Amino acid sequence: MSNYGELTPVQREELLCEELKTFKKLKKKCISVDMTRGRPSKEQLEIAMPMLKEAGGYNYITEAGDARNYGELAGIKSARELFAELFEVKSDEVIVFDGSSLDIMYNLVQFAMQFGVLGGVPWNKLEKVKFICPAPGYDRHFSICENFGIEMITVPMKEDGPDMNLVELLVSNDESVKGMWCVPKYSNPTGAVYSDKTVARIANLKPAAKDFRVFWDNAYMVHGLYANDDKLKNIFDLTKKTDNANMVYELASTSKITFAGSGVAALATSAENVADLLKKMFFKQINPNKVNQVMHVNFLKNKDNVKRIMSLHADILRPKFELLETRLKDAFGDCQEVKWSTPKGGYFVSLDVKECAKRVVALAAEAGVKFTAAGSTYPYMQDDSDSNIRIAPSVPSLAEMDFAIDVLVCAIKIALFEKR
Ligand SMILES: Cc1ncc(COP(=O)(O)O)c(C=O)c1O
Repeated sequence: MSNYGELTPVQREELLCEELKTFKKLKKKCISVDMTRGRPSKEQLEIAMPMLKEAGGYNYITEAGDARNYGELAGIKSARELFAELFEVKSDEVIVFDGSSLDIMYNLVQFAMQFGVLGGVPWNKLEKVKFICPAPGYDRHFSICENFGIEMITVPMKEDGPDMNLVELLVSNDESVKGMWCVPKYSNPTGAVYSDKTVARIANLKPAAKDFRVFWDNAYMVHGLYANDDKLKNIFDLTKKTDNANMVYELASTSKITFAGSGVAALATSAENVADLLKKMFFKQINPNKVNQVMHVNFLKNKDNVKRIMSLHADILRPKFELLETRLKDAFGDCQEVKWSTPKGGYFVSLDVKECAKRVVALAAEAGVKFTAAGSTYPYMQDDSDSNIRIAPSVPSLAEMDFAIDVLVCAIKIALFEKR
């Protein structure tokens, strides 16, 4: 479909009538497809079922004692070692938690608000706390900020990461800028991978706030769709050479490796931060779910085996992403008004339809296909150009995807014709 702007009003009217007829037919099929969130499909969840089946036979006696009993606040040694291998850091720079990295991020912000960072002033004693939010970005990061009354500064997300000129300017001139969200690999939702240059510029930031923290949410670090996974530069290798040795919190979990929300999550950061956090965590908990950690270590084993498991996930996910790409290209390959990302990993495709996102999402919902609310990928739900739609292709079957794409394509065309 070529540019809609080039059509005459009569042609547009005719095409709109045709699309409305197609829409009516699609609606009549009464199929429901949910593409709101990046969840693993049932087929993917089955991959980790042997872990549960074999769990009774695992050895729960670790070097430190019985994993079924109290102790080891930072997680069991073998789990710390496994995540250290994945993060490419030392195991004393890792804490292994329970099932959710979002929970860790929330706690890190809460600790900073209530107690301060490494002996600094608690953030909630300050007049203003601001976070840099690359957008489109992950809605739940923005929700954490909203929850704590942290002011969000939107920074455009580009193909190689956030607009670093703007980030450097903001971070180095404003002491109330205390944090920055980053999803550096297969970013949610654009799928962008931060370039080496971007990682280096982040590592070498000169924050006005000494307690500025980068939340390096590496949720998709092993989630490539193809054999030649993109390589993300190790930010700690760079920060260790600067004054920013304590600046980065790296997060990940096995939510999309084993079970979502019921896996294990981990934090990598400087040994100094680890010690400080453990002191704070002491009042909260005696230890994480170590039985689950033993199960995960036995099942996941090491980085090579994690890669093998992730290739099974990729085999399930890849055809869905490729179907979406092919169909969008067929429908809008020549159309300047519709743009989308073609990620090589992660869980999302980011679609931009200028000034039409709300209308497209509403039309799709009317025909049974649910997308995340338009605007969700921006702080305060403020997508000024009403363009961005996050598509999560993981859950539907290929047949459901086919239907969902029919609906999406039809909804986009209707919205574009109506706009004119
Ligand atoms: C970027 C990002 N971080 C974190 C999460 C949530 O991870 P967890 O299940 O470990 O809380 C998601 C889930 O979609 C995500 O996309």
